[in-house]
Amino acid sequence: MSEPQATHLKDYLPPAYRVTHTELKFDLAPSATTVTARLHVERHPEREAGLPLRFAGDKLSLVRIAVDGQTLEADEYEVDDEGLTIPSVPERFLLDTEVSIDPAANTALEGLYVSSGMFCTQCEPQGFRRITFYPDRPDVMATFSTTVVGDKTEAPVLLSNGNPVESGELPGGRHFVTWEDPHPKPSYLFALVAGKLEKVEDRFTTMSGRDVTLQIWVEPENLDKTDHAMASLKRAMRWDEETYGREYDLDRFMIVAVNDFNMGAMENKGLNIFNSAAVLTHPQTATDAAFQSVEGIVAHEYFHNWSGNRVTCRDWFQLSLKEGFTVFRDQSFSADINSAPVKRIEDVSFFRTAQFAEDAGPTAHPVRPDHYIEISNFYTLTIYEKGAEIVRMLRHLLGWETFRQGSDLYFARFDGQAVTIEDFVDCMAEVSGLDLSQFMRWYSQAGTPEIDAHGEYDYAKCEYHLRLSQRTPPTPGQAEKQPLHIPVRMGLVGTKSGNDMALTLDGESLGHETVLHLRDTEQTYVFTGIDEAPTPSLLRGFSAPVYLRYPYSREELSFLLTHDADDFNRWDAGQRLTMLALDDLIAAHRNGVEKVMDSRVIDAYRRLLTTETDDKAVLAEMLTLPSEAYIAEQQPMVDVDAIHAARVFVKQSLATALRDEFLAMHEAHRSDEPYAPEPDQIARRRVKNVALEYLMSIEDEEGVALAEAQVDAEDNMTDVRAALTMLVHSSRSDIAEPALKAFGEKWAHDPLVMNQWFTIQVTRPQEDVLERVKYLMAHPLFSLKNPNKVRALIGAFAAQNRVNFHRLDGEGYRLLADVVIELNRLNPEIAARIITPLTRWQRFDEQRQALMKAELERIRAEELSPNVFEMVERALAEA
Ligand code: TRP
Ligand code: ZN
Repeated sequence: MSEPQATHLKDYLPPAYRVTHTELKFDLAPSATTVTARLHVERHPEREAGLPLRFAGDKLSLVRIAVDGQTLEADEYEVDDEGLTIPSVPERFLLDTEVSIDPAANTALEGLYVSSGMFCTQCEPQGFRRITFYPDRPDVMATFSTTVVGDKTEAPVLLSNGNPVESGELPGGRHFVTWEDPHPKPSYLFALVAGKLEKVEDRFTTMSGRDVTLQIWVEPENLDKTDHAMASLKRAMRWDEETYGREYDLDRFMIVAVNDFNMGAMENKGLNIFNSAAVLTHPQTATDAAFQSVEGIVAHEYFHNWSGNRVTCRDWFQLSLKEGFTVFRDQSFSADINSAPVKRIEDVSFFRTAQFAEDAGPTAHPVRPDHYIEISNFYTLTIYEKGAEIVRMLRHLLGWETFRQGSDLYFARFDGQAVTIEDFVDCMAEVSGLDLSQFMRWYSQAGTPEIDAHGEYDYAKCEYHLRLSQRTPPTPGQAEKQPLHIPVRMGLVGTKSGNDMALTLDGESLGHETVLHLRDTEQTYVFTGIDEAPTPSLLRGFSAPVYLRYPYSREELSFLLTHDADDFNRWDAGQRLTMLALDDLIAAHRNGVEKVMDSRVIDAYRRLLTTETDDKAVLAEMLTLPSEAYIAEQQPMVDVDAIHAARVFVKQSLATALRDEFLAMHEAHRSDEPYAPEPDQIARRRVKNVALEYLMSIEDEEGVALAEAQVDAEDNMTDVRAALTMLVHSSRSDIAEPALKAFGEKWAHDPLVMNQWFTIQVTRPQEDVLERVKYLMAHPLFSLKNPNKVRALIGAFAAQNRVNFHRLDGEGYRLLADVVIELNRLNPEIAARIITPLTRWQRFDEQRQALMKAELERIRAEELSPNVFEMVERALAEA
């Protein structure tokens, strides 16, 4: 077995031959589908003449091959594990191939596969090579004409990209549809779906008055779960017109829901394919969080039509060009139609938990990596989320109007092309006149920068001196780091007034809030005319993806929690205050000292619970304790047991001290209104359920009764799931077990609900949970072949049940490693993702490190897919 080889950005060359038009015919059968391709091939003008032709191909059985109609002799071409070589071809020619593939045996879910009896495709990033021999790289863009032939009863619906142009009956109970996609596209945007599907249809009139047909295709039993996705789609289409001036460009836009899918969804041109979990909602089956996630994903895939499809990536190193920009766009959309501060709080708490962890671990990589073994491993939080933060910084550096001009220039200049991240940033530099060369380091330098801030007030001179220094820690392969261009949005809050003070810097008056441009390793800013000691409010709105350290006292944090004009920083002050208390409690737990609750935290919570506020959504965020994973990212060394104990202690102390207030809060936020996924209602339910969670943490009699009643609420899954989770995670198995059983029986027919049922059980903190995990893995409704089930059961256990996954006998690690080894054969993409918690061994104590490394070594001894091989190599590189 030869070791998989790395691909390097510096080796990029245009392809020797490109395809301008692609004609495909699929003769569908589950175990033997025939794919006939006619490719219009020509030499790339930038490459020399006479080069051999090399097209990718994976698991294809070649039946026939011809150049310009002449069948090739066996010595005129060669097929190996990775593709097809023809040593000599004309400058321009037609390549005809016929291959046979086996969709039913495709458990990797890349290329053409069968899911719940329906044919579907996933081609990004390199799945098309499992369909036919092709230059399967994003810089080859062709128009497509696709004929799909299938059985009339098994596959009454036959879909592909673009517009249907012809259809008809065929002998033997078969039929066909031909689709034409006039927009040149790379192969990764190709899609085909065939099966027993039904549709919900709607219309949209674009800003220039064109009529677009919108369709959502699902299995018949899910027809009542498409309303929210359709409404979200129409809102996203309008938003992209109004915000970015982007209009849809085909006569129809289709979404298909598929049960077996490796990721959330895929932006195939005109035919988005969605994980059913990312599109189907119903008040009784989906939580508020699921409704909001569907809204965001529908928008994300739709927005790709411009940021990704019309303008695509030159090579896969540029992945963040489309993903970072598109995540930024979907985040802005969700912020605009819901609560902007809450959207920011949610995105940042997720980012600081998960992306910070990635950036601090062995798989840390730049937003534009310079090499990879398996590109599927780079669909990461760094490429997506940190990429979005970089675009957000550009938007703030330029201001919205100018940023929009840069975006317009980018789309106009590069429409129909495959381009690079420089091309995007150059447009931003051109319209603004800014020098963004230092800023570009954000794309090449991995790791989370740390900013240390120190403030000093000079009474005599009425000056406030703010000293900022930056440092980025070394990451694998990058020992030395250079200073970045970091926008630090800030204000100075007057200690007496509680208001933002007027800012003057170097004689220039800057209003009440400003953005400092930190470019050097250390910079000092002198604010003049400051007539009282201020409390600094720094990095407002999380204006840059960095750690910010400032030695705030608890009094200062309590003050900011009430007075900061920036909602995000007000929330952040609360988190920091709670973190200080948690740090003490973690230390107390480790030292075996009695835990004492900080009364300032209790006071802060009392104020939150008793002060009238209109913004319930922000209130819910403020009342929510940082997660164990978030707390872990703030610690030098992770002690899972101490973190868990400290967090439980804080929760119970607050519940005990403020029991009546939580009860009143719960009561005040109940409602009989019929369910709607509206921001106000969602906020109300969150406040209510957060309050109940506190009460349940001390198993308060009244709280238990409320939870028990709520489990039977027929109206919506948000309340049911919240209550069931609290009960199952409590010691009241007398109530929890019958409720779980009833829930399981009621929803056995609905896989998305049963996935929630799995998650609720495997995340319970009790020590016997590992037996439950194993028992559920043997449940008839569980399957390792379905990624959603793997995520709901194994993924949730490893990532959310930290005390039990990190058990000191290593059983949690062993279980995950066993799953990785099995998935490595079935679905390498999922295997390489699910392994993540094991790769973070450096963060734990020596005993756990040894156990985790031993499991990684055990995996390494297997015959591995390139996906898992690369992850294990990176994880063990420093061992
Ligand atoms: N481009 C898709 C998105 O942004 C990501 C994606 C969907 C994907 N399916 C995949 C990536 C399979 C890798 C493999 O939303
Ligand atoms: Zn995307």
